[in-house]
This record gives sequence, C-alpha cells and structure tokens, in this order.
Amino acid sequence: MERPIGVIDSGVGGLTVAHELMRQLPREQLIYLGDNKRCPYGPRTKDEVRKFTWEMVNFLLKKNIKLLVIACNTATAFTIDELTEHLEIPIIGVINPGARAAINATVNEQIGVIGTEGTIKSEAYPAALKKINPNLQVEAAACPLFVPIVEKGVLAGDEVKEVVKDSLLPFENNKEMDTLILGCTHYPLLKPVIQEVIGEHVTVISSSEETARETSAVLELKHLQTKRKNPPVHEFYSTGNMDIFYKIAETIFKESKYNNSYEIKSAVIDVD
Ligand code: DGL
Repeated sequence: MERPIGVIDSGVGGLTVAHELMRQLPREQLIYLGDNKRCPYGPRTKDEVRKFTWEMVNFLLKKNIKLLVIACNTATAFTIDELTEHLEIPIIGVINPGARAAINATVNEQIGVIGTEGTIKSEAYPAALKKINPNLQVEAAACPLFVPIVEKGVLAGDEVKEVVKDSLLPFENNKEMDTLILGCTHYPLLKPVIQEVIGEHVTVISSSEETARETSAVLELKHLQTKRKNPPVHEFYSTGNMDIFYKIAETIFKESKYNNSYEIKSAVIDVD
C-alpha cells in the first residue's frame, strides 16, 4: 500500500509531529499541509476552524492519503469527531496521545495544560485526561502569544522568555503540578524556554511521540503499512509565506537524517 499519510496543521507546529512520524515510521511517505496564511486558528470560532480544516482535508484527500494525522490541537478539539464520522480513512488527533503521555509521566496526579484559546475553552484535555483517570487534578491556561511568535520564526531570546514567563504565571502557585502538557503543536518549538521557566521538576510533555506511536499501531492494525524498501520523499505544502515555512522546517529537520528527503511547495486551497 504505497499511499501517503496526510498531516495537517494551521501552520508550522505540526512539523514537530511530522518529524516524529518520520523518525518512527521511516518508510512511510508524508504529505503535510500547513495553513500558514490563516494561522493562528486558536482565536477563531469553532465554525471557522471546522471550515478551514475541511478545506485542508479535501486538499489531502485528492492526494489519496491512507490515514490523516490532525497535528493541530485546536483542529482536533473541534473536528475529530466529525472527521472520524465522515471519512473512511483512519483519523488520528493529538489530544488523546498527549493525555496518555501525561498520565504516563505524572507521579502526583497534578497536570497542567497549555494551549490555544480554542483548545483550552473546548476543555478537550481535561475531558480526555479524566476519562482515563477521574482523580487527576488538571489546571489549564491559554497562551495566545506563543503561536504568533513561533510563526515569525522567533524561538529564543529575551523577548520570548518574557512572554513565556508572563503566560505561565497562572501556574506560579501550583507547587504540586509535576507534568505540563504542551497542548499546541507549535509549543515544542519553545520547549527549552518553557522548561527553563517552569522548572526542571516539571515534566514537559509534547504529544508528538505518542501520536506517532498511535499512527504506527493503527497502520499495523488496519494492514496499511507501506512495503516500500527505500526512504520516501516527503511533500510539505504551505498556504502562506514559503520563506518562513522553509526556515522553520530547516530548524526542525537540520540535525536529522531526513534533511534531504523532502520538498516544500506552495499550496492553493479550494475555498467555497
Ligand atoms: N498548532 C496548533 C495547535 O496545536 C494551532 C495553533 C494556532 O493556529 O493557533 O493548536
């Protein structure tokens, strides 16, 4: 089965998930679409996020994808149920994997979650966490300034540290929290700064590893694994500024062996 895996995000954040998919599934081809032009999705209404997500999905369905990874928490929170209901291919979001990874990491059952306004308002993380363990204490905070910073390609420095410090103030008095979920796929790009600000005693969780593991398990279960012998060439599409997209992709992939195995292209999404 030589069909690709589709990966979507509002922008560059999903590249953190794509990178982990490439690591755990080195023979599977990815076709990634980042909607950088309309990023951020976080402050948008549920209807807008649904509309944009369907447009991205339709773009990828035309590429004959065999499985879709919604590498965006906001889109997962608002659309995973309806995508799962309407599409015949398997759909994997990032919220349940993130919740599972946090439950695996916490010792004292006190978990923090940061994400976009949309994800935090949806309460999808507390729901996913408490469905598994109702005893968990969950504290959540939106960090609306993180995505615009990352989309500009600014990932470190004094200004970033100040923004991260201010945004994590809601957790200042929570001394029991031992695990913090990065509930937005853009946030792992700020992980070193987030870890420094929140302190080494807190395990900072990104959902990408667990999402890739789930993808691998579903491919096996549904007999959808590739039989390809050689490494694939991945395709990355962006609806927006290609220079920034290229720069961030290079940052994520630069140290890795996947550096030469992808093409970046501009995408035009069909809008009604
Ligand atoms: N990376 C996305 C997420 O995981 C979306 C960020 C945004 O567009 O606001 O939620």
